[in-house]
Amino acid sequence: MTALPASTPYALPGPRSRALFSREQRFISPGIQQIATLAGVAMDHGQGATLTDVDGNVYVDFVAGICVASLGHAHPRYAAALAEQAAQLTVGSFTSRARTELVETMAELAPSGLTRLQLFSGGAEAVEAALRLAKSVTGHYEVVSFWGGFHGKTGGVLGNLGSTFKHGLGPLTPGTFLSPYPDQYRVPLNATPDSVLDACIAFLEQKLAIETTGKLAAILVEPIQGTGGNIIPPLGFLPRLREVADRHGAFLIVDEMICGFGRTGRMFGLERDPVRADAITIGKGFGAGFPVTGLLTSDAHCTATPYALPSGSSSSYGGNPLAAAAALAAIRINREEGLVENSRRMGERLREGLRPFQDRYDFVGHVDGEGLLVRLELVSDRATRAPLDKATCQRIFLECFRRGLITMAYGPSVRLNPPLVVTEEQIDFGVSVLREVFDAIQDQRTEAR
Ligand SMILES: Cc1ncc(COP(=O)(O)O)c(C=O)c1O
Repeated sequence: MTALPASTPYALPGPRSRALFSREQRFISPGIQQIATLAGVAMDHGQGATLTDVDGNVYVDFVAGICVASLGHAHPRYAAALAEQAAQLTVGSFTSRARTELVETMAELAPSGLTRLQLFSGGAEAVEAALRLAKSVTGHYEVVSFWGGFHGKTGGVLGNLGSTFKHGLGPLTPGTFLSPYPDQYRVPLNATPDSVLDACIAFLEQKLAIETTGKLAAILVEPIQGTGGNIIPPLGFLPRLREVADRHGAFLIVDEMICGFGRTGRMFGLERDPVRADAITIGKGFGAGFPVTGLLTSDAHCTATPYALPSGSSSSYGGNPLAAAAALAAIRINREEGLVENSRRMGERLREGLRPFQDRYDFVGHVDGEGLLVRLELVSDRATRAPLDKATCQRIFLECFRRGLITMAYGPSVRLNPPLVVTEEQIDFGVSVLREVFDAIQDQRTEAR
């Protein structure tokens, strides 16, 4: 196993990183993930939950490519499965051994009896397919999703993004609606943590009654909002959405792109608040790094047209032999190595380490999470819960990075998502780095008063 990072902070970026980064910057288009631009380092290789840059600096990775690297980096069995398949056959949509075994395996695992799987290569693509399926089955065309939700950036789902990301990118698909998500920390609708669930459902019902034309095709929801900040809704939310969907003759689509495959300490996020979904979208940890995503649905629904017409839901790379081999290897390794259980245990350990932060630092507002999907809210004022300023957040991110810990602390809603293979030692290391950096920030805040 790779050793933990050195105890003296790194001088970053190192010379090799700087050279490679500036060569790339000359030709790469802007708009890549801000973590890469802020860090300015070039990674060379990974092992388990660690990454090593081209100057030899080692980092513990609490980001995992935003929940993609479920098996960590360069898992030997995963690498071998990919290499073996790459040497045999990579392209095409004919039946392959890998795809057959993958759909069989997913049929065993799938909740809600959703034993039919269609494969894609991007998350947004799978969500768009789910919307096409919902329209095909229901004959309706309106879609409601939630404030803070994220489902991809392509045209068909842009309107379902519950953030300002879509500003400047209109017009949006007609028939898209957004309603508040029951966040119990930053509580919408002037509700309280206890009343927020009822308030959000009542608001949703009113919205559907007044704003739509009564042709709701789908409610699209994340069981825990990942991009929104690892926000856990109150129990009962998903079943209440099921009731609303049923009243409107609509689909309930559960987007498990982030939550699926053990991220929340359960195989699927919706197991926390059991509900019957009509469709489930999967990705990220499903392929563990290979761009493969999917849409799970039922025997009853999968034949609806135009979704089910020949080539109606195909794509150039969806479920090709290499993609199928990658997803199959990822699921097998996940099950054989008990990664769902490891996620539950390591997530508890991480939160145990972070909870005392709420007393120790006046800028830590909230610690929460399920499995290895952890929420850490940084605030400038505990009473108002106003987010911590961006400049301080970026300093936290860079100081952690220099000490060998990769986080998403560059914004105030910090999401901590280590690979599911992370060890106790690495979790404890991460907590100790965060404590060291937060101590320094607290000292400065105290001095400034
Ligand atoms: C819940 C959810 N759905 C969909 C997507 C879109 O995935 P992609 O970036 O692969 O299009 C994401 C990406 O973060 C996501 O978190």
